[in-house]
Amino acid sequence: MSIYGNHASELERIKEQLLADIQEIRGHMTAELGMDPIEHLLGRVKSEESMREKCRRKGLPETEESALQAIYDAIGIRVVCAFLDDVYTIRDRLASLPYCAVAEEKDYIRHAKPNGYRSYHLILRVKDCYFAEIQLRTISMDTWAALEHHLKYKKNVQGNIRLIEQELKRCADELAATDASMQTIRDMMQETDV
Ligand code: GTP
Ligand code: MG
Repeated sequence: MSIYGNHASELERIKEQLLADIQEIRGHMTAELGMDPIEHLLGRVKSEESMREKCRRKGLPETEESALQAIYDAIGIRVVCAFLDDVYTIRDRLASLPYCAVAEEKDYIRHAKPNGYRSYHLILRVKDCYFAEIQLRTISMDTWAALEHHLKYKKNVQGNIRLIEQELKRCADELAATDASMQTIRDMMQETDV
């Protein structure tokens, strides 16, 4: 029996609907901006195995209730943008989708995690009974998160862990400064357009 009970196919349908709506938002924004705001877009329903592992990690029973109501990322979507402003525009448009309500959001862009992690996490309540976690970030943030994820799961990292963490944090901050500069350059280019 699936941990999602008889909701597994509905989770897939909702994921597809969210992806289709993001594609539509993307189309409108491409027309408005004269460029595609999204570098890449991913969606997944959490596998049975990782959902069960997450329940155990959080001390929750491995039930449909835990998977659908206590854990918010059975449906996970990642939207990777070239520019910072587009992250917030897409966030606003997703928040106003008629079948979605904002359940929770964490702005790890304005308030980065102590390790340097940045991303905007939007938890949507979908059709009154499901949750979806949408992670919105820039290419730089995505690159950093991928690298940090590798290091986190790498067994037996040798060397000075504190120094490695410090260096990672420094990279995250430098990338954030670059994102801000790139946004400024785009704003300057748009000013000279008119
Ligand atoms: P979970 O128990 O994993 O749901 O964490 P949480 O409920 O505290 O949520 P949070 O919004 O902090 O993180 C959810 C997801 O964001 C994670 O599953 C990762 O995909 C991503 N994430 C959060 N923090 C980090 C981080 O420090 N590094 C990387 N690489 N990813 C992170
Ligand atoms: Mg979470």
